[in-house]
Amino acid sequence: MKLLSSFLLSATLAMPAVAVSTHKMSVDTDESAGIISKHIYGHFAEHLGRGIYDGLWKQDENGDYIIRDDVIDALKDLGIPNLRWPGGCFADYYFWEDGIGPKEQRPSVVNNLWGGVTEDNSVGTHEFMDLVAELETDPIVVGNVGSGTVEDMANWWQYVNHPGESPMSKLRAENGRAEPWNVEYWGVGNESWGCGGNMRPEYYADLYRRFATFLHPYENVKPFRIAAGAAGADYNWTDVVMERAGDMIDGLDLHHYTIQGSWTTKKGEAVNFDESDWFELMDRAIEMDEIITGHKKMMDKHDPEKRVWLIVGEWGTWHEQEEGSIPGFLYQQNTLRDALTASVTLDIFHQHLDRVKMANIAQTVNVLQAMILTDGEKMLLTPTYHVFDMYKVHRDAVALPIKLNKGKYRYEGESLPALSATASRDKDGRTHISLTNIDPNEARTVEIDLKGMDVSAVKFGRILTAEAMNAHNTFDNPNNLVPVSFDGARVEKGKLIVEMPAKSLVTLEL
Ligand code: AHR
Repeated sequence: MKLLSSFLLSATLAMPAVAVSTHKMSVDTDESAGIISKHIYGHFAEHLGRGIYDGLWKQDENGDYIIRDDVIDALKDLGIPNLRWPGGCFADYYFWEDGIGPKEQRPSVVNNLWGGVTEDNSVGTHEFMDLVAELETDPIVVGNVGSGTVEDMANWWQYVNHPGESPMSKLRAENGRAEPWNVEYWGVGNESWGCGGNMRPEYYADLYRRFATFLHPYENVKPFRIAAGAAGADYNWTDVVMERAGDMIDGLDLHHYTIQGSWTTKKGEAVNFDESDWFELMDRAIEMDEIITGHKKMMDKHDPEKRVWLIVGEWGTWHEQEEGSIPGFLYQQNTLRDALTASVTLDIFHQHLDRVKMANIAQTVNVLQAMILTDGEKMLLTPTYHVFDMYKVHRDAVALPIKLNKGKYRYEGESLPALSATASRDKDGRTHISLTNIDPNEARTVEIDLKGMDVSAVKFGRILTAEAMNAHNTFDNPNNLVPVSFDGARVEKGKLIVEMPAKSLVTLEL
């Protein structure tokens, strides 16, 4: 019933009765702006809150942690390309040897960073590798630089990857796994300017060189070495690290979260917000463009060939955690507002695809801007999950150059670009267009000139929208906000006309 009413709502919204402004867009379907790396659609799972325990894993009747099938199935439907683990800040506190061998012999430690809870190391290397095998996704392992040694990290690398006879491959076999896992993506520390050791970029660059030296290529796998990147707009970090260690870096891991309110006093709330909060969060999300542009400039200075990937290894909205949830667990709800910040951010990544080749939204289940929330046996897919689902058509596709008159979303004397878009052609020659209208009040008509393409009809379209700015899914009503079929696009005199409701995301296949 709810689904039907959402559908009717979207159908109504797709045909606005009042005149709306028209925005011109052109897509060069014969040209290529480059390939959209599938790794931009990556994910992140840290030992934090209920992300790992009670998220990706649950306890069975014996109290043992087992992979949660419903969560895995949902992530498999999404086809996630990679998963970053074990942190986050936790990575620089993590001693991998605590998480191997018989479970009853694994030590319990305190997760001081996140809630001060006991981490009994039930989920360690073997469990994580089993998970990524089930998900058919690429693991990204982040090693401990902040409190670990070069030897620890080199041994971990050897443990997961060495194909022949070595002390660590022997230990791995004793723990039940003879074959190496061939993990390619390897982080050398996390946020080394902060929780990863509070280092200066000069110091980190030297340390990075040292740690990275001992990640040896084997015949089965060559390390893709990822250096800790900057926080937000700290361009000096990128400049120094690239200058001093760029020749040994394959990917540089920038972190930038979108918050409304303030880090130091109070962040905004996930569900209880007004239009001024909506505007502020959208404004902050769009800052990603400026931040990536700034880091690209620094990277271009030291790596004009663009060999080194800019990885946005942690991104997403960060709100005050839900009232009543465990302090330090970063559990937050997820609304239409979060969804549209995600689609706008993915568009920005696509616009920088010459450098941005990988990104990881934080964090997969029950933490920050999650794809999935769980409550006991219950599970729901968040609006952000649906954005990733609608956008999966763009993965590994050829980005088509677009020109878009974005218009203005005005609020109390300020304005933001109202529209955002991506167009791409996939391996089977299908063309897809995604359009976002962040304006919560005004519908807009987009008139698209598809240069080089004779379009006769729209094959299908989906829309994510709602009447309320804070529409979200709950365990009692998990399908309150889901994408529905969109009938607001038509071809008229060779042009594609799309009627975008206020606060909506549409994806079309032509
Ligand atoms: O994702 C939560 C935390 O945010 C991560 O542990 C850290 O890397 C970042 O500051």
